[in-house]
Amino acid sequence: MSSYQKIESALIHGGISSDERTGAVNVPIYQTSTYQQDGLGKMRGYEYSRTGNPTREALEKLIAELEEGYAGFAFGSGMAAITAVLSLLNSGDRVLISSNVYGGTFRVLDKVFNHFGITYTIADTADLVKYESQITGDAKAVIIESPANPLMTVTDIRGVAEISHRHGLLVIVDNTFMTPYLQKPLTLGADIVVHSATKYLGGHSDVVAGLAVVNTKELAGRLAFIQNSTGGVLGPFDSFLLIRGIKTLAVRMDRHVENAQRAAEFLAHHPAVKTVYYPGLPDAQGYEINKAQAKNGGVMISFELHENYNISVFFESLRLVMLAESLGGAESLVCHPATMTHASIPADIRRQVGITDGLIRLSVGIEHITDILADLEQAIAAAKQ
Ligand SMILES: Cc1ncc(COP(=O)(O)O)c(C=O)c1O
Repeated sequence: MSSYQKIESALIHGGISSDERTGAVNVPIYQTSTYQQDGLGKMRGYEYSRTGNPTREALEKLIAELEEGYAGFAFGSGMAAITAVLSLLNSGDRVLISSNVYGGTFRVLDKVFNHFGITYTIADTADLVKYESQITGDAKAVIIESPANPLMTVTDIRGVAEISHRHGLLVIVDNTFMTPYLQKPLTLGADIVVHSATKYLGGHSDVVAGLAVVNTKELAGRLAFIQNSTGGVLGPFDSFLLIRGIKTLAVRMDRHVENAQRAAEFLAHHPAVKTVYYPGLPDAQGYEINKAQAKNGGVMISFELHENYNISVFFESLRLVMLAESLGGAESLVCHPATMTHASIPADIRRQVGITDGLIRLSVGIEHITDILADLEQAIAAAKQ
């Protein structure tokens, strides 16, 4: 039985938290591709590192415990995790996706899985009545992000799970933006959680990794087979880095969220700002739903400046906040979804789902909030035409 009750302790002691043989308080990096066997068919638990590796296994057990699932799987990137999960589907199946999912999730369906006869529909998962009307006979799965990337659209995970299960759909939630510290989709009825662990779980912008957690033995068996067959596994050193990052997730996220709330309020009151998307603001879309299913509004903010501000000048004027793809590191990052994270979505679809050319996405870091706000203020002032 675990000797702790709270997730803050599970982040540090969950899964396999030390080395039984030596007492080392950290799981060693088992940098090996293969394992000596004691005789034909006599293995000591491991045979080949694509199939299983003790460092990766410690991470997989940890994420399964944190998400309260049956089993976890670690991959070489978030996209590798999503690809493995989509490989559970068959030719002829249709996937419904939230209207603003990460561009890469859209792209892999639009340009890779289409070759195998798997189709997709962009669905309005934030409106449950509309969502149910978009479920067709060939729909077999739904992928949700809540808040979704980049407009921070909140979806009622419990509501979507209930409707989807009535129609026999598998419910997949990309929990990258929230992490299990802020939101646990499996406890809300989802079947599978995926992560770009590159983001908050890793937390230091130094590792690319993906995780998936399933809620049943049956799904675990199928995904283990896909992981081993397709082979997009996470290496031992990156597994170690992720375990190390996850230990400090609670303290990092507390500071991230505190800063994000302050930054969102600053932007919401700024005369240069036209719109702010942040689920922690009381007038945000889905505020009450998010409050009921997550600990708080998370860290990600998107906003638009008024037309008389030049956003290229805004990006170039930032001194502390860095213009870069990605999110979730200690440092504050901004990006321009239309030309960066969501460039793989055709312009007409981007416009249709509300991703304007003026949209700016901000991943609020854990620097001092005074410095973050001062940097945003001076860059906004410089951008005025
Ligand atoms: C929400 C979300 N899901 C998935 C991914 C893909 O993850 P990765 O870049 O680790 O492959 C990203 C990457 O930005 C993301 O933001």
